[in-house]
Amino acid sequence: MPTTDPVPDDPDFSEIANRSIRRSPAKLGSPDESDHMSTNRPRVAVTRSDLPGTGIERLSRSAELTLWPSRTGPSPDELAGFIGQADGLLSMSQDHITDTVLEQAPRLVVIGQASAGFDNLDLDALTRRGVQAANAPGVLQETTADFSWALIMATCRRLVEADQHVRTGRWTEVRFDLLLGQDLYGATLGVIGYGQIGKAVARRAQGFEMTVIHADPVAPSDTVSQAVALDDLLRQADIVSIHTVLTEHTHHLISDHELDLMKPTAVLVNASRGPVVDQRALVEALRSGTIWAAGLDVFEGEPVTADNPLVALPNCVLAPHIASASLATRTRMVDVAVENLLAGLRGERLPNLLNTDVTARSPG
Ligand code: DGY
Repeated sequence: MPTTDPVPDDPDFSEIANRSIRRSPAKLGSPDESDHMSTNRPRVAVTRSDLPGTGIERLSRSAELTLWPSRTGPSPDELAGFIGQADGLLSMSQDHITDTVLEQAPRLVVIGQASAGFDNLDLDALTRRGVQAANAPGVLQETTADFSWALIMATCRRLVEADQHVRTGRWTEVRFDLLLGQDLYGATLGVIGYGQIGKAVARRAQGFEMTVIHADPVAPSDTVSQAVALDDLLRQADIVSIHTVLTEHTHHLISDHELDLMKPTAVLVNASRGPVVDQRALVEALRSGTIWAAGLDVFEGEPVTADNPLVALPNCVLAPHIASASLATRTRMVDVAVENLLAGLRGERLPNLLNTDVTARSPG
């Protein structure tokens, strides 16, 4: 059964940041037959109940909404039961939409996902079943690039260690070699995955007068960055920042061999998907000094638990998958998901359709 989280993790700041999140008029629970019979409107299941902005309210004018009551979202087992008789689904990148889930969602015609990444969606299964699916591209690259730079700077200049040093009263003497870091100015930035986010990260490097190189099978050199092979990028870059999609080809793209190619002074940042980096190999590389440090917003297993070996490493800056988490951007992500859902419920082609070869089933 769905549960409701007892309290937000950080009540003080979350309450301030979330002030403009409007509670929607939808109900909590699971879409059932009575919803449809009583209103004859399409039903949409929404896998979170804490979505910012007015998108959910807008959606509720055209559909009967059911919101998953917990902030953590449904587990894979709970998901199928939750979608049940829904015609549409507003999903997040943590919701694994597999063929098994779809089998138990006979009415589903459209998925609008509030994220850029879509590795959680089985697009082949969706296409086979005539379900249109869309992500939310084009609205989060600048916010995600900002945060990637926050990770780059925090990692290169040891900001988390510095903060702890002061807070815990260890700043008792003025040392010339205190918390020495790595320079950004004039360094070489290597961007893996030169799409919307990778390009936004690269543009920001110009302010630091950095040399920018990128590795991407389909993105040629441009005025900002020179295209190079992945191994060359790993050998040359002082900072390696990962912004590729997760596919079977990019799973563990960075493992022992790749880490060995990097400079011992290099910093690795990942704000894409956790499984792009082999965590076991990364932990070894950070412990042994094969690379200098890492800044991570994504992990092979999320949420990260206290026994994850990365947690004990001082040369690793950790964040809880929040690179796109500004209020404005998260609001836009929901808005895009809602626009896609409304189009699908009207029987139209989705503006951000992912499975472009789908023959879409009609709603209702
Ligand atoms: C995205 O948009 O893919 C972010 O990682 C949030 O899920």
